[in-house]
Amino acid sequence: MYRVPFLSLERQHQSIERKLKGAILKTIQSGRFVSGDEVNSFEDEFAAYQKTRYCAAVGNGHDAILISLKALGIGRGDEVIVPSHTCQATWLAVLNAGAKPVPAEVDPMTYNIDPLQIENVITPRTRAIVPVHLYGHPCVMDRIIAIAKKDNLFVAEDNAQAQGATFKNKMTGSWGHCNATSFYPTKNLGALGDGGAIVTNDKRAYQFARAFRNYGSEKRDEHVIAGVNSRLDELQAAVLRIKLRKLEEWNRKRRQNATSYLRELYNVEDIQLPPGESEVVRPVFHLFVIQTTHRAKLKKFLEKKGIETAIHYPVAVHLQKAFGHLGYKKGSLPIAEKLSNEVLSLPIWPGLKKEEIEKVCGEIRNYFK
Ligand SMILES: Cc1ncc(COP(=O)(O)O)c(C=O)c1O
Repeated sequence: MYRVPFLSLERQHQSIERKLKGAILKTIQSGRFVSGDEVNSFEDEFAAYQKTRYCAAVGNGHDAILISLKALGIGRGDEVIVPSHTCQATWLAVLNAGAKPVPAEVDPMTYNIDPLQIENVITPRTRAIVPVHLYGHPCVMDRIIAIAKKDNLFVAEDNAQAQGATFKNKMTGSWGHCNATSFYPTKNLGALGDGGAIVTNDKRAYQFARAFRNYGSEKRDEHVIAGVNSRLDELQAAVLRIKLRKLEEWNRKRRQNATSYLRELYNVEDIQLPPGESEVVRPVFHLFVIQTTHRAKLKKFLEKKGIETAIHYPVAVHLQKAFGHLGYKKGSLPIAEKLSNEVLSLPIWPGLKKEEIEKVCGEIRNYFK
């Protein structure tokens, strides 16, 4: 049976395989694998792409959020507002920075943190908001920034899933004081291993991040803060420099695929489709996530037809054991819980063929017939 893969990085990499091999070989021959020219060049190129002044590359997306918060002086005793529905790494990074994640419910149509709900959970201890541009869809950044300004809060965007997206023509991941992203292999801009970055216009925060990722040291044998080891390596930077040049093309293909889904599925009554592009938002469809009360049965049906799907995420973050001490129970965050029961991610990656999308849509229509 012809299978539609949820994601095929092998197929996606075909057009750049020769370049990737060349860059890897060049790095091997350079004999330099950590803190070298590839990382420096990638940082310059990614800062330029994001239209921010500085970029500090780090080991992964979790650390990028954690270091962003630390660079803003956030830690013990502070509360940080996070979306109720996100990848658990967002909450975890807040915890690991020493602060308390305080969830605000999301808008069930966009899956993103709802500005009205942010206002409901602000307390005198709140120091920052971490908006997550989930599935590649931009948050309502102008309203979030306005709330933060009014209450004197920092904003640290989690742009792990939205590299290249814009809100009102401004890049996501460039609105906040210090913004994080992940280069986990499946991301729109993914390495061949782990990676992440912080971008900012704040020189002091940038210098903090550079030192913190390297045992707290900018200068050899001089440790100014108690940092960690969270460096992007030269091989990953060399790979990311090649893939960054493809990002706009790949994001365009993702948007085209999303348009096909939206066109083909708009009249299937039992599913809720994600929002598309508008004058205000240009999403990058890291994932194409539908909602349906038939999720388990539909997933199984599609599997039988050779169509791979995934669930992001099947357990609401507040119901994970790791966050039990925060005191949330079943029923505490009903929107996040409903989404965790009903979301289903369809294949959307840039190498997907037109016939494959047609097959997915055809089988979804067959299921609901
Ligand atoms: C929204 C979001 N935040 C944070 C992360 C953490 O990134 P990483 O896996 O690179 O630590 C991820 C990815 O896994 C993510 O999707």
